[in-house]
Amino acid sequence: MIEFLDVSKLFGDHKALDNATIRIEDGTTIGIVGPNGAGKTTLIRLLCGILNPTSGKIIIDGLDLQKHPTEIKKKIGYLPEEPNLYERPKAGELLEYFGLLYGVPRNKINQRVDELLNLVGLSDRKDWRVSSFSKGMRQRLAISRALIHDPKIIVFDEPTMGLDPLTSRKIREFITTLKKEKTIILCTHYMYEAEQLCDKIAIIDKGKIKAYDTVENLKSSYIKEKTFKIGLKGIKKEILDNISSDENLRIEENGDNYLIIKTKSYENLKNILKEEITYFEDLTPSLEEVFIKLVGKKDD
Ligand SMILES: Nc1ncnc2c1ncn2[C@@H]1O[C@H](COP(=O)(O)OP(=O)(O)O)[C@@H](O)[C@H]1O
Ligand SMILES: [Mg+2]
Repeated sequence: MIEFLDVSKLFGDHKALDNATIRIEDGTTIGIVGPNGAGKTTLIRLLCGILNPTSGKIIIDGLDLQKHPTEIKKKIGYLPEEPNLYERPKAGELLEYFGLLYGVPRNKINQRVDELLNLVGLSDRKDWRVSSFSKGMRQRLAISRALIHDPKIIVFDEPTMGLDPLTSRKIREFITTLKKEKTIILCTHYMYEAEQLCDKIAIIDKGKIKAYDTVENLKSSYIKEKTFKIGLKGIKKEILDNISSDENLRIEENGDNYLIIKTKSYENLKNILKEEITYFEDLTPSLEEVFIKLVGKKDD
């Protein structure tokens, strides 16, 4: 369990993190989302022990991070926002170097390096110098570096930023496989990425945690009505009358053979429309709407 208890971080008189309290259960995947400058990286760097809090405590598995930094850091794998890899070594050598540095036993290191390169799809590049790697390959290598000591907590800071869609997807798939056994903290400003991968999401803005909950709960707390597009065989007057007389239903758009309806209750709608329905589409806004409501502006 990771606990942030009233954690603040000041840079000069600027509060990059403002009294953040958040608890992360073992084995969950948590998204930290917010606009640029919100304090996401600061939160993560505090968690990784790279920064010290100005006030408050960070407790991991019952241990105070500031009192037991070495012990706790062993539990954490960190992919920074802009990973800095050495250019000269070969990929395999780089991983071996970091593995030994993080305490992987010498007799296990070769196997561990091969496992990881295989996991991130870089086995055939083991003997290539890092300097020859593309941006996507570097990111995958940086991820394997973060995992080399088999940490129980993995922290990804904007893991897909600036990558092409195919590589981004591979990285998301990779995070999905890791989810099964690890605690994952994923910082991202891509809302769909958080929605797709995370069990719970913390929305952060100007250093403050604005909300922390499951995607489902965030949506139901902040989006009061569902929106459905419903295809119909024909739009009979009787149907329109029935909808109008139901205070829970509102017609947003009346097309030739479809209706867009806003409603709190889905059951009523089905009862009224029954056999007439030809198709049904849930247009209820995504997590992005929740984000815009809480943060007040769309991120770039
Ligand atoms: N080392 C630092 N020194 C001074 N200000 C910083 C430092 N790191 C971050 N900040 C400031 O703290 C705020 C939060 O930054 P950051 O945590 O990097 O945001 P995010 O990762 O959400 O984009 C920003 O206003 C940023 O300029
Ligand atoms: Mg950041």
